[in-house]
This record gives sequence, structure tokens and C-alpha cells, in this order.
Amino acid sequence: MKTPICEKLGIEYPIFAFSHCRDVVAAVSKAGGLGVLGAVAFSPEELERELVWIDEHVDGKPYGVDTVMPAAYLGKDQGDLGKIDLQAMIPDEHKEFIKGLLERYGVPELPAGQNAWESLLGWSVSAGRAHVEIAMKHPIKLLANALGPPPEDVVERAHSAGVLVAALCGSVDQAVKQKEAGVDIVVASGYEAGGHTGDISSLVLVPQVVDAVAPTPVLAAGGIGSGRQMAAALVLGASGVWTGSLWLATAESDCVPALKEKLIAATSRDTVRSKCISGKPARQLKTAWTDAWDGADSPGTLPMPLQWMATSEALTRIYQHAQTRKPGSAQLLGTPVGQIVGQISQMKPAREVVRELVEGSLDAVERASQILGLSDAD
Ligand SMILES: Cc1cc2nc3c(=O)[nH]c(=O)nc-3n(C[C@H](O)[C@H](O)[C@H](O)COP(=O)(O)O)c2cc1C
Repeated sequence: MKTPICEKLGIEYPIFAFSHCRDVVAAVSKAGGLGVLGAVAFSPEELERELVWIDEHVDGKPYGVDTVMPAAYLGKDQGDLGKIDLQAMIPDEHKEFIKGLLERYGVPELPAGQNAWESLLGWSVSAGRAHVEIAMKHPIKLLANALGPPPEDVVERAHSAGVLVAALCGSVDQAVKQKEAGVDIVVASGYEAGGHTGDISSLVLVPQVVDAVAPTPVLAAGGIGSGRQMAAALVLGASGVWTGSLWLATAESDCVPALKEKLIAATSRDTVRSKCISGKPARQLKTAWTDAWDGADSPGTLPMPLQWMATSEALTRIYQHAQTRKPGSAQLLGTPVGQIVGQISQMKPAREVVRELVEGSLDAVERASQILGLSDAD
């Protein structure tokens, strides 16, 4: 399975695993793929700590870091965040709606002394740049960016250090902009993907992006949950697969047990593409929380970054409450996840998931060869 992209990155299999969890990143890289740590939820100090840990646990194998420097968000035109009073822009109507929802589902306040999650996530160019600064001090092999092309100087900085740059896109237009920005790898993310996603399915998007940016290599993202799907992505012209949902319920994942159980129980119909996490469309588990934001009483979502600012304390409380394991305590609990959630049926070590992708894709290619009469095997 040594594809050109494997040669460039020094990996065995063209399997890229996005995760916010350092244990997953290290496990996938050690299993021959490329683990990519999502930086967005970490402060620069936390990211430094996570990367030090990965350096100590990845046995010298290559890994990457993913930042989020969006092309558009509130405050960008005012010289980035920090210059405007964002808190004052959250309407009372939204505060009341969230308060009412937590009361209805019996979600208690946070215990004294416990902080809520950071209300201003790294969804800005300044936060992304701070993540890049930290990441570049470590032996990363890939720097990826979501929600827009990375700034030119970031691309140059990475290249001068021998680090490849990737960027996620959901349309051909975006892919062409990524290529113009100088990225080495375009990640084409289909409608079925977990997290921020566009509205074109992977089956339609991937070959279009492959043609539009050739000879730049393309990774297929969204809907890759098995070897058969990986083989299909390669047949569509992708140079590899970029996965996210698949790792959430692995043994190494730090998702709480209540969440892993929900993921394992979910079918492919149990996701929804909603703006209720960030203000931009993101596919996630369908829960009482997403239903409420889509419901008749919803005040509607706010633009990035206000939506997360308005909800981060509530989401921390929901996460805490679910850990009590009391009946009904996980009703509001969710996560970004794609439609392949319906294929996750048990908790497995990440190494096992990598092995299944590799073997399953080889079997699928063999089977396709037989169907086409290209193979002698029975
Ligand atoms: C829980 C979760 C969080 C995500 N957060 C990010 C992120 O911060 N940055 C990013 O580039 N992609 C993020 N993604 C998207 C993944 O990078 C990837 O494109 C997507 O999961 C691929 O589709 P799949 O879920 O069908 O495997 C996230 C995905 C999930 C499931």
C-alpha cells in the first residue's frame, strides 16, 4: 500500500485519522497511518502539553496537527477577535432558551470550583496562528487547516520546515482556492462527514475535486468507515482517506462511556447537519439538544463564534451530567459525528480499526477485480 503520499509522509498506509485525543493520534500513527491532532479546543499551553506527550508516545512515527483558521467569521473584518465585545452580542433570548432547556432536562449547575469549557474556541486566524507557532516546535509532518485556505505565510513557514500542508474543502471552488494557496494535499469532505461539512456527497465531490486540482493529491473525507469505503475512495481517484468519526468509539478515545454507548447504538439516520455547535453547518449526533435548536421555539443559531460562546457552559454541564449515569442524563449529550456512525458497532483498539481498513480495502479491490473479470481467483 505504499502510495506516493505514504512515501512523502513516511507512513505505511494512506489512512489519516483526525482526533482531538492524543492517545488516538499516537495509536493510529504507531499502527502505520497518520494521526492528526485537532488543536481547536486547546489553549496554546494545552496544545504544547499534548504534543510533548505525543512526541514521547509515538515511537518516532509521523503525525500531524490540524488548526481552524476560518475564511469568514464575525470579528474578522474588525482586525480579528478581542477588539469587539462579543459577550454583549449574545441576545437575552438565546440565554433564556438555553436556561429553559437545561431546566427541562434537569441538568444541574457545575460543581463549585469547576470551570466551564473555554467560551472562545480557536476558531480564528489569531488563535490558529498561535497553534501553528506551537505545532512548528514539534516534529510534525503535516499541518492541516479547516474552514478556509491557510494564510500564505503559514504555508511558507511550514514548507520551509519540510512540513506538508493540507486543507479541508467541501466544494470544487474551495478546492481550487486551497491549491492556489499552495497546499500540498486537498481533503475533500463530503456531506456525510462528521463536523463542519458542505452539502455535496463524497461520491460526487471526490472525483470532481481530484480532476480540478490534479496533480495535487486529494484525500477523501466523509463516509469512510470500512475497507470497502476506503477502496471506493481510492477508485474515485483519492490518494488516501481522511477519517474522523471512526475513532470516537475506539478504546483509546477519551469520549465518556455514555457517549461511546450512544455512538455504538446510533444508526446512520441518527445524525443531523446543524449550525448549533459553531454557527456553521456541522454534522453531529441527533439529540434532544439538536432537536430543540431545530424546533419551533428555537431562537435560531448565532454566527461563529457567538454560538459556541452562548452554549459552551451549557455543553460543559450536559457533559458532566451525562457522567452521573442517572436515567435520562445523556439525552442532551452529543458530538460531531458523520453518517458512518451507523457502522460503529463495538469499541475496538485503534490499531484493529486500521488493520480492518487495510485488509477490507484489499479484499474489496480483489472482489471488484473478480466482478470485472480481471482476476483469476474464484
Ligand atoms: C468529533 C469531530 C470533531 C471534528 N473537529 C474538526 C476540527 O476541529 N478540525 C477539522 O479540520 N475537522 C474536524 N472534524 C472533521 C474531520 O477532520 C473529518 O473531516 C471528518 O470526520 C471526516 O468524515 P467522517 O466523520 O465520516 O470520517 C471533526 C470531526 C469529528 C467527528
